[in-house]
Amino acid sequence: MDISKKLVETHSLSKEECLELFSLFDVPESMEYIKEEAVKIRKKYYGTKVFTRGLIEFTNYCKNNCYYCGIRRDNRNIERYRLTEKEILDCCANGEKLGFRTFVLQGGEDPWYTEERIADIVRKIKKAHPDCAITLSVGEKSKETYQTWKKAGADRYLLRHETANEEHYHMLHPDSMYLSNRKKCLYELKELGYQVGAGFMVGSPGQTWEHLAEDLVFLQELQPQMVGIGPFIPHHDTRFANEKAGSVDLTLKLLSVLRLLLPKVLLPATTALGTLDPLGREKGLSAGANVVMPNLSPVENRKQYELYDNKICTGDEAAKCKNCLSARVRSAGYELVVDRGDYIG
Ligand code: 5AD
Ligand code: FES
Repeated sequence: MDISKKLVETHSLSKEECLELFSLFDVPESMEYIKEEAVKIRKKYYGTKVFTRGLIEFTNYCKNNCYYCGIRRDNRNIERYRLTEKEILDCCANGEKLGFRTFVLQGGEDPWYTEERIADIVRKIKKAHPDCAITLSVGEKSKETYQTWKKAGADRYLLRHETANEEHYHMLHPDSMYLSNRKKCLYELKELGYQVGAGFMVGSPGQTWEHLAEDLVFLQELQPQMVGIGPFIPHHDTRFANEKAGSVDLTLKLLSVLRLLLPKVLLPATTALGTLDPLGREKGLSAGANVVMPNLSPVENRKQYELYDNKICTGDEAAKCKNCLSARVRSAGYELVVDRGDYIG
């Protein structure tokens, strides 16, 4: 059987099969077929709905030193900030008025935000917005901490695996970070009943086709409810400042492949995609993505959460961001919905 047909019919590929599929990425008819099938299956499960998540970047302090990331610990050239509990709650209240039913609390790995402080915030958000889902994205913690947050009311957790290849992981992260622990965290989060999001950067320094095939195999093993992928974009204050950015085109192809490998997955058209191409997010939706994540953080802090250069949406109020995205979603033939947008099991 032709490998693209196997993908469409069985929704599974081995590492070797992924590599065979990648060799078709230059064949326009094959890619057209994959994209069409991805859109078809996305329509089957989600119709024309696009879910939206309000992103709150609540701290840019980070104890880690990922080589690609603008808010890494050793970057002395950024001004650090932490939102107060009240500021976070204000972002959520504003977000709810704008129609958001999911809040994503994302931050660096900031030890000031202890288990208890985060649990407190989660409880307060849940109390004020019982109909809303809370997603946490604050890095690698112990199973006990994840459990405390789950009990406090957290529903989902985003932790990109970044690359499923051990050696490549070490090219991107210092010795204090291990792929094995990252994977362990992802499995524990799943066990605890979180809806879990993994993912990786496309075109990160040193990434090979083999690595990408391993990413796809790992994601089939993990079966996450969400997968975040976006092109790597260099940040001027990192060791990768002069590396090439990832390809928008390849990211779009991989979005279609992911839609077919994990048919019901929640797949965002990411900010990084919109940063490299002004129509990147629209193209992402047309390739099989079904989620957008506009920024709800206070405008004063947006620029300080610069993971990569030229990040978009750093100057606009939440309301403006939402309207802009809503228009973009419509222009791609979809509709932004007011909904928690849970995984459909
Ligand atoms: N380019 C693109 N994406 C990046 N991220 C971090 N730094 C960069 C960069 N330079 C992504 C990582 C992380 C997510 C929050 O942002 O994949 O998990
Ligand atoms: Fe903060 Fe990587 S630099 S998690």
